[in-house]
Formats: sequence, C-alpha cells, structure tokens
Amino acid sequence: MRAIVTESFGGPEVLQLLDVPTPEPAPGELLIRVSASGVNRADLLQRQGHYPPPPGITDIIGLEVSGVIAEVGEGVDDWRPGEQCVALLAGGGYAEFVAVPAGQVVRPPAGLDLVSAAGLIEVAATVTSNFTRVGLAAGETVLVHGGTGGIGTFAIQYAAALGARVFTTAGTAAKLALCRELGAEAAFDYHEDWQGALLGATAGHGADVILDVIGAKYLTANVDALADDGRLVVIGMQGGRKGTLDLSTLLAKRGLVTATSLRGRPVAQKAAICAEVAQTVWPLVETGTIKPAAETRFPAASVAEAHRHLASGDAFGKLILTWG
Ligand SMILES: NC(=O)c1ccc[n+]([C@@H]2O[C@H](COP(=O)([O-])OP(=O)(O)OC[C@H]3O[C@@H](n4cnc5c(N)ncnc54)[C@H](OP(=O)(O)O)[C@@H]3O)[C@@H](O)[C@H]2O)c1
Repeated sequence: MRAIVTESFGGPEVLQLLDVPTPEPAPGELLIRVSASGVNRADLLQRQGHYPPPPGITDIIGLEVSGVIAEVGEGVDDWRPGEQCVALLAGGGYAEFVAVPAGQVVRPPAGLDLVSAAGLIEVAATVTSNFTRVGLAAGETVLVHGGTGGIGTFAIQYAAALGARVFTTAGTAAKLALCRELGAEAAFDYHEDWQGALLGATAGHGADVILDVIGAKYLTANVDALADDGRLVVIGMQGGRKGTLDLSTLLAKRGLVTATSLRGRPVAQKAAICAEVAQTVWPLVETGTIKPAAETRFPAASVAEAHRHLASGDAFGKLILTWG
C-alpha cells in the first residue's frame, strides 16, 4: 500500500509517499481501505518529533480516517467487507489501509459524503468527551478558544446544540464573523482583552466552562475568566506547557482545572466515546444542526502542502487528504 512515511523529524518536506507493507487486522480489529484522512494539528507536532505515538502504535501519522471495511478480524461480528465507516485512530491514518480496534470504528452519519466524514470523528470525540467530563449543561456559559479551528468549529455548534450560551475567540475579523455564523453569541479577538470582553458580555458572570487549546499562556486569564464553580478543561498547549496557577483565585471560585488527551486513552474508553458520538452527535449532523466544518481537500501526495497550510494559520475548519 501507499502511505505517508517520515524517516526523520522536521518540516513538511520529511513527509514522503512510499510503498510499505499493508497491515493485517489482529483479532478484534478491522482493516479499512481509506478514502480520506483527517489532518490534525497534532500531526504537525508528530512530524516534528514532539508528539510520539503511544507504545505499540505505528509511527505513520494520522488520527482519523473514513473508508470502507476491507477485512474483518477474528471475533468481530457486526461488520461486513464493503461497509462504509469512519475511525478514530492512535496513528496510521495517512495510508491507504489501516487496522484499528473495532470499537473505534463507527458508521458515518447518514447523508454525509465519505470524504467529509473523515474530518469529523476526532473533533467530535474530543469535544463531547471533554464537555461530558466537565458537565457542560444547558443554560451555562461556555468559552471556546480558537472558534474556527477544527476543534472550535465543532465545539461552538455542539455547545449551542446542548443549549449553552457560546462565546469564542479568534484571530481575524473574518474568523470572528464565522464564529458568529456557527452559533457563537459573541466572538472576541484574542489579540485584544478577550477576558474583559467576556466579563462584559456576561454581566460579570464569566464562563461556567472554558475549552482551552492554548495552555500555559492562558492559564491565569482563563482562571480569572471562570464563573463561580467554573470548570477549565485544557486540551492543547499551543501557548506552552508550564504556567502559573493562582490557587487563591481558584479556591475562591470553587473552580476546577482539568486536562485530557484522547490519543493515549485505553481502547475501551475510546470505544465508549465513539459509541457516544455515533449515538448523540450523528443525529445532530443528520438533521443539519451540526454542519461539518468547512474543509480543504488535498490529494494525499500533496500532504506537505496541507501541513504548510495548517501551520500558516490561514486555514478554516478541517484539512482532509484524499486517496482517490
Ligand atoms: N487533548 C486532546 O485530546 C486533543 C484532541 C484534538 C486536538 N487537540 C489540540 O487542540 C488544539 C486545536 O486543534 P485543532 O485541530 O482544532 O487545530 P487547528 O484547526 O489548527 O486550530 C487551532 C486553533 O487555535 C487558535 N489559536 C491560535 N492561537 C490562539 C490564541 N492565542 N488564542 C486563542 N486561540 C488561538 C486558532 O485560531 P485562529 O485561526 O483564529 O488563529 C485556531 O482556531 C491543538 O493544540 C491540538 O493539538 C487536543
């Protein structure tokens, strides 16, 4: 099979399309013939050597795919070859075939074309599992940082569908406008005083929940922006990993700070999250309540261009590689 292989760490030029052995499904796994592979920011980090795969996982990059079942491993009885699917992966998605535990494979939402479906499962699994973790409820106020990224476009729509008041940050006027189109009540320029703007927009209440992709750089400001009993969940470290936490502020607010990573979770947890996504998110996609993020498609051979585009900061929504 063809796959995107990295023989060294570095810039987008280290990504090469090469022939490699096709994986075989182990018992409990499915082999997928890949139609399209989602591109995630984590892929850029892995290419640079900053985000190694968990033990036992292929070093081929790629956290999500769509495709059709090519082979059914021993002990899997609810899938047949030829069925369409999407899969959440710990790695291996930048390839024509990938073997994956059956629990991490679900049928795509009805009516969604298979290429678009490739960019949905990673963000859906990340956002739903984190909103569940911090108990986001209808009527609460949520702040989503980076509202037009892959995570942000989904998080705004999903939080709105849950009945939350959604506020968000973004970096340009065009992106701020898109956040509002996606369902945010207001969007704040992160180059300006977004924290003051949030407090102003919520009459001093702040955010009951903050979904943060920045990490250290925003830790103090995020805690300051929390409402009483507020919950901050950090899922990205684009602004560094070591910050200062003012415990007196957190204590006075009875606040909660938590952080999670989806990739390294045990297979059983990922399977439960995928099942929840299929049960709760897919119907919202099928009714048009949640629209898949705007996507930019690249042939797999142009993967370096896709990585450059994502790194440029000019991308909206998701980038997808197609295998044709
Ligand atoms: N922990 C997990 O399980 C998990 C899972 C998936 C993703 N992630 C992480 O989540 C992050 C986002 O992933 P993604 O796939 O959505 O990436 P993406 O599509 O590249 O989006 C990155 C987002 O970050 C925003 N951003 C950059 N600087 C910012 C700042 N100073 N303040 C506020 N927002 C800022 C960007 O906003 P502009 O475009 O407006 O500049 C953009 O919306 C990444 O760090 C990724 O590694 C974590």
